[in-house]
Amino acid sequence: MPAMAVAGPGGGSVDGGKLTGQVLVCSIIAAFGGLMFGYDIGISGGVTSMDDFLLKFFPGVYVRKHRAKQNNYCKFNDQYLQLFTSSLYLAAIVASLVASFICKKLGRRLTMQAASIFFLIGAIINAAARDLAMLIVGRLLLGAGVGFGNQAVPLFISEIAPANYRGGLNICFQLLITVGILIANVINYGTSRLHPNGWRVSLGGAAIPAIALLIGSLTIVETPTSLIERGKLDEGLRALKKIRGTDNVDTEYEEILHATEMAKKVDSPFKSLMKRSSRPQLICGTIIQIFQQFTGINVIMFYAPVLFQTMGFGSNASLLSAVVTGLINVVSTLVAIFTVDRCGRKILLVEAAIQMLVAQCTMGITLAIHLKSTNEIPSGYAIFVVFLVSFFVAGFAWSWGPLGWLIPSEIYPLETRSAGFFFAVSMNMLCTFLIAQVFLTMLCTMRSATFFFFSAWIVVMGCFAAFMLPETKGIPIDEMNERAWRKHWFWKRYFEGEDDNQKVGF
Ligand code: BGC
Repeated sequence: MPAMAVAGPGGGSVDGGKLTGQVLVCSIIAAFGGLMFGYDIGISGGVTSMDDFLLKFFPGVYVRKHRAKQNNYCKFNDQYLQLFTSSLYLAAIVASLVASFICKKLGRRLTMQAASIFFLIGAIINAAARDLAMLIVGRLLLGAGVGFGNQAVPLFISEIAPANYRGGLNICFQLLITVGILIANVINYGTSRLHPNGWRVSLGGAAIPAIALLIGSLTIVETPTSLIERGKLDEGLRALKKIRGTDNVDTEYEEILHATEMAKKVDSPFKSLMKRSSRPQLICGTIIQIFQQFTGINVIMFYAPVLFQTMGFGSNASLLSAVVTGLINVVSTLVAIFTVDRCGRKILLVEAAIQMLVAQCTMGITLAIHLKSTNEIPSGYAIFVVFLVSFFVAGFAWSWGPLGWLIPSEIYPLETRSAGFFFAVSMNMLCTFLIAQVFLTMLCTMRSATFFFFSAWIVVMGCFAAFMLPETKGIPIDEMNERAWRKHWFWKRYFEGEDDNQKVGF
């Protein structure tokens, strides 16, 4: 059974518990994995808009970019340039599957260490790259790091967190993703002035969060759940006492033991996931990640500088605008941390869908009217587009961003939680890959209509959040079936009848 869920039996099911210094420090160290992930998301867009980088690896794009009569929307359309960005996610899908087994057999800590080593080697190869092949090999290694890290880190944090802090600590992982993106944007802004090797500094900078995670993960404890799951009962008990800061951990210890025993009885969680009664969680948990990516967020994260240059901004103004949107991303994620347990998930998702819809449509209309094939957008409108992008990013950051990870982690019962979360992670990577690979081509062929394409998705996901998603705020994760799914007007039918739990298949 792959063990890659966000919420494990440890922190997941025990009420109460203090937030000790140990838990906080271990969570922050682990969340460096988010920093690694975020750094990568943010760095590629800026680097691919730097002339020195284009000249060296993508001379065709460089020439097109500077050709006066070149179609605005197609300046950057190049399959290899897109492959540079997207190859990482392809590697991450494969790596996350491998990591899920390593995570279970050898522990979360070791998986994190492996992630940081992959990441470190990838960063070094990228910084030293002499040709496209080296660049892609580096990206693939970074992808392996992201796959390993994203599998182990959220699981690690959730397993050590006391239940009543799990949501907040979970969103801290997302917060560090956004911090990583911001740092990358700032670094790109600085290195774009270092000719001709600034891009090497940007790509090599990925080594810093990797080293931090490597050193940090040598010092933190393994999760009690992982130790107990692997039969190391005494060690597990010691680790539990250490992270809880007390010897009084009997109830939680018993609960972890019980949960791991129950989980062992399920011979195949993937088979269990095919039961009729697992269908609501599987559909919602997976589709939310598809929706997260089809908001179009990574168009902004990967290609904002390229997009701003498409509108006629200079290289510096484009990178600076990316810094502004990166900052908004971080601050708005804080909003999610403070509102998600008060206002609930659904209201955030629906409100943000409306906000993102307005932003995408207005962006599409503005570009359709003001950005023709070969002109520059009037400067007032260009600033308006930066505002729209920021408005869009803010909405995403307090809703579909963090909740895309949180919801799949809290809607499954323990026996299918790991396997179910695997679908969420891999769907995220797959959709990220698709968007990274096709966006520049879409922009070239569909032009401003690209933004209406994403708008249509946003309408669908807003309706889905409003009508199909149960509210999970404040419900202990082990009571989710009873209190959320069985009460939902649509999904309750999947729980009707005694035999439903036995039925397999769709
Ligand atoms: C998404 C990433 C995205 C990031 C932006 C994450 O939740 O999974 O694809 O780039 O948020 O902050």
